Amino acid sequence: MKVVILAGGYGTRLRPLTYSIPKPLVPLVGKPLIVRMIESLPQSVDTVVLAVSYMKEALEEHFQSQPCGKKVVVVHEASPLGTGGAIKNVAQHLDETFIAMNGDCISSLDFRSLVKAHRENGGIGTIALWQVGDPTAFGVVELDKASRVINFQEKPKREDARSDLINAGYYVFEPEILDYIGKGQVSIEREVFPNILDYGLFGHRFTGHWMDCGTRESFLAAQAMILDLEQPSSASACEGCSIEPPNLIRSGAARGARLGPHACIEAGVAISEGCQVSNSLIMKGAVLEPRCLVTDSIIGPKVVVAKDCHVTESILAIK
Ligand code: GTP
Repeated sequence: MKVVILAGGYGTRLRPLTYSIPKPLVPLVGKPLIVRMIESLPQSVDTVVLAVSYMKEALEEHFQSQPCGKKVVVVHEASPLGTGGAIKNVAQHLDETFIAMNGDCISSLDFRSLVKAHRENGGIGTIALWQVGDPTAFGVVELDKASRVINFQEKPKREDARSDLINAGYYVFEPEILDYIGKGQVSIEREVFPNILDYGLFGHRFTGHWMDCGTRESFLAAQAMILDLEQPSSASACEGCSIEPPNLIRSGAARGARLGPHACIEAGVAISEGCQVSNSLIMKGAVLEPRCLVTDSIIGPKVVVAKDCHVTESILAIK
């Protein structure tokens, strides 16, 4: 079976970091976000069709130098075609039932049950659905008793929302879906789904966890969740530091540093005496000069945080 991963967006909400690294390659607890997504796919998925546009060379280079255990076919869009246009653009690779997914979510979805539900429902597509308390920032999906989608609402007001189930960004489609995606830039959520309800579009609800990693807050929340779940062991190269787990610390730190909880520090980072880091990602080559305090932030590669600076709720990166 093939999976199409939509990995061509600009990732504007993670700027300035995404000026120099595409969102799918941002390290999420020790491995690129997209690698975590590929690792969550079942064995029956043998081919990953990567729909790319923005910074495609970086993605190509990554999979050439670090194979992921599945065949990866990179298909380029000259300019981003939107979530529907990107699927249409890889049509030559799709001749049977396939999975499609956004390239920036982390979840406990069992793809085998999604595919099974799709085959049982017998429609043109099945959307994985996640229940939320407040659906106002999402694409809301209303189902009938047979799990058939009967209505979509994009970011509705709270009082107007007809359901608390949102589109989680994972789909199973029959190749016929391609006939309903127009040419050029097309959003599958806004311009295709509402028009194909009569052909049998179904929803499949799952539980466990789901997180979109598209903003600083949601990326760091996903990082914290994975650290809590995986409790990685961090090499204790930090004599004289205080460490509050869980963390992933791959660099040494000077005496008096306080690290964690929920700190991910890549290899090749310099942490000077008296620094404090919590709920943050510090990427390779960054330097934290003495007594810096970094909380709820992403510090990009090679950024130097000057002594005594306090960085909070920020993304710092070199363009
Ligand atoms: P923002 O600019 O911060 O909204 O991020 P984004 O560009 O990633 O957009 P969004 O989060 O809405 O996209 C959801 C998923 O679809 C991401 O994995 C994107 O990489 C992907 N995506 C969005 N637009 C395109 C596109 O035009 N082409 C391709 N190939 N993928 C896209």
